[in-house]
Amino acid sequence: MNLAIVNGPNLNLLGTREPGIYGAETFESYFEKLKEAYPQVQLSYFQSNVEGELIDALQDFGFRMHGILLNAAAYTHTSVGLGDCIKAIDAPVIEIHISNTFAREDFRHKSFITPAAKGLIIGFGLDSYRLAIESFLKEA
Ligand code: DQA
Repeated sequence: MNLAIVNGPNLNLLGTREPGIYGAETFESYFEKLKEAYPQVQLSYFQSNVEGELIDALQDFGFRMHGILLNAAAYTHTSVGLGDCIKAIDAPVIEIHISNTFAREDFRHKSFITPAAKGLIIGFGLDSYRLAIESFLKEA
């Protein structure tokens, strides 16, 4: 099974960015742990702060991966383009959020990703990504 993790803007700063909300671990360190925990899964990782680059990555992964874990970060709440892209690709997308966006500001309650996603895992910290992998594995 091959799965891609796609992270949106400011998630490259995990570890130092608002650690009270997002924790103190870098995504690179967490990603190494995921790869060790799931040797049977071929995991790819892409991060960008640029909306169009995220769409390009989804269009690329979306026709050759079994599934995609997408944390579109702030673009979740603004991007018609990302929502449309998820509808256009073959691979199922699980929407991920580290924090519980529904317990935060109102503008974070709107998602352009959810209507197009297979499912939504939010609020479990970085463990949200592992839970999504477990879900893909259960269905394999
Ligand atoms: C986030 C939640 C978003 O509202 C925010 O803009 C992020 C991270 C999360 O993982 O909790 O950058 O997607």
